[in-house]
Amino acid sequence: MEKRSYGKHFIIVAVIILITAVITIVGLGRVRWMAAPATTQAHSVDALLGIELVAIGFLFALVMVFMLYSVVAFRRRNGEETDGDHFEGNTKLEITWTVLPLITVLILAVLGARGLAQATGAQADEVAVRVTAFSWGFTFGYPELGIDATPVLYLPVDQPIVLDMNSVDTDVIHDFWVPEFRVKQDLVPGVPTQLRITPNKIGSYKVLCDELCGTGHTNMQARVEVVSSSDFDAWVAEQQPSTDPAEMAKLGEELVASQGCAACHNVTGDPGGIGPTWKGLFGHEVELADGTTATADEAYIHESIVDPLAQVVTGYQPIMPASYGDVLTDQQIDYIVEYIKTLH
Ligand code: CUA
Repeated sequence: MEKRSYGKHFIIVAVIILITAVITIVGLGRVRWMAAPATTQAHSVDALLGIELVAIGFLFALVMVFMLYSVVAFRRRNGEETDGDHFEGNTKLEITWTVLPLITVLILAVLGARGLAQATGAQADEVAVRVTAFSWGFTFGYPELGIDATPVLYLPVDQPIVLDMNSVDTDVIHDFWVPEFRVKQDLVPGVPTQLRITPNKIGSYKVLCDELCGTGHTNMQARVEVVSSSDFDAWVAEQQPSTDPAEMAKLGEELVASQGCAACHNVTGDPGGIGPTWKGLFGHEVELADGTTATADEAYIHESIVDPLAQVVTGYQPIMPASYGDVLTDQQIDYIVEYIKTLH
């Protein structure tokens, strides 16, 4: 059988691959994959993603163009009855398609390891912030500033932060992820973990739990505020315990929103909630599942939060998580009680 030359085909294919690769890579580069980065740690993550998109764009062009070109150029034409050329092995080609991907993967591995070292390495003048996860939410503490547990993560811009993370749950893993920060870290029961960030852009962000952890997973979020250092100092000053009932009730309302209480307890008085409504609760008699009654005073509401199964209201399932006593400080529970008092 005469040997055919494929040189012409290879030149055409190479040109089409080049054009397709450039179009694909430019197109991928224009897609807004994630919100703009907001930490110094994000740089190495985004740089690596950029390199990977170039490799992906090229590989896509290589595979698609070779395949589609072959389908068109080497299709069986009318009256053609012979078999195609038979190839058996091609050592050069096999070495090429083994060595090139190997080198590419090794380069990505080295870049990835370097990026990981940069993103997780200790920083100078770090400030520690405690992150506590529970089913289903987050609280934040600032041991160096005497702030115990706040529902919103306030961070001063350009300040290196080390997040010391813990979970009060015993049976599920949560995950701290702010997409704009790029880095993320699991919160594992009994295993303290750390995450390092230096927020470099003032703005509002959201912590999302990125580990499927139960029915409240999709609502397991918390607000992050990256603020100027003077705004941060002002916020720290505001965190001193409040004794003014109106202000306490307002802080309580914020806690209720951030701790997910509204998922089960409404404040409108509508029947059919998962837990009892809070409207008109304070000061009234409630019927308990054991047939007795109790007055919904401060002590009753406090106990219902820290030990929810002690006095279950009749007609409701005993399903409230028992972790709020670990998550909320007594001060914060007082705020919530003060808020419930306002719901006549
Ligand atoms: Cu916690 Cu998902």
